[in-house]
Amino acid sequence: MPRYLVVQAPEDGVRLITLQRPEALNALCTELLAELAAELESAERDPATLAVVLTGSRKAFAAGADIREMAERDLVGILNDPRVAHWQRIASFAKPLIAAVNGFALGGGCELVMCADIVIAGEDARFGQPEINLGIIPGAGGTQRLLRAVGKPLAMQMVLTGDPITARQAQQAGLVSELTQPELAVERALQVAASIARKAPLAVRLAKEALLKAGDTDLATGLRFERHAFTLLAGTVDRDEGIRAFQEKRPAHFLGQ
Ligand code: HXC
Repeated sequence: MPRYLVVQAPEDGVRLITLQRPEALNALCTELLAELAAELESAERDPATLAVVLTGSRKAFAAGADIREMAERDLVGILNDPRVAHWQRIASFAKPLIAAVNGFALGGGCELVMCADIVIAGEDARFGQPEINLGIIPGAGGTQRLLRAVGKPLAMQMVLTGDPITARQAQQAGLVSELTQPELAVERALQVAASIARKAPLAVRLAKEALLKAGDTDLATGLRFERHAFTLLAGTVDRDEGIRAFQEKRPAHFLGQ
């Protein structure tokens, strides 16, 4: 049983993971990150899980790395930091990951949001990279993914001042896909996840991979990957079913084959 997560078994193909460390505003201590990485690996292996929603509390999605734990680490400790491997496992989750964000998403919390594919935020959410106030810089994607998500001027402003932005600013900048009333963020994220879970799993998986390629490769390589993935899907049972269902004017029943 995880100590810092509440996990709701898959319903309609969607697994809900809630960060639960309220005494520290869901600060991402090593144990919490290890639990999250393990939970996502289990979700990846589970054929009944087709999408995952990740959320925190109304006050905080996550307030960043655990500063108390950071205070105890010296340079050698940081070089051998087990959290690096946990972050890599979280960021490489292959199924769709939807974040439902309320309250603070700061530092590692904002970086965790950027590991998600889709971000639904309550209007009171705040996104920031305040590491500069601690004399450090972001260390889990907060310079690289943030710049790609919101562009250079805003990323520079956020990282160099440490000042957070509002949910509305985050949506305008492209960090958030949809805004909701705070109390509806999780429900809306579950709806979006359930809609994805009804699609053909192989197509969803390759669509995610192809879209992520756009962020880290040149256009010609990305287009080649897209063409290969498109061709691969032409040989699937689900592609035949999708086209047949359209012609027969009925909903498609995908099998993941
Ligand atoms: C450990 C934290 C914490 C954190 C909050 N707490 N953030 N503990 N690590 N990141 C704890 C507080 O110490 C406090 O515990 C309790 O949570 C409630 O927090 P308060 O500060 O009392 O709440 P509030 O006044 O509402 O302020 C909320 C806040 C503030 C603005 C979010 O807590 C804050 O600035 N937190 C730090 C945010 C931050 O700098 N994050 C970046 C971390 S560096 P007690 O026991 O005192 O009640 C980072 C690097 C990533 O993320 C690198 C990845 C590899």
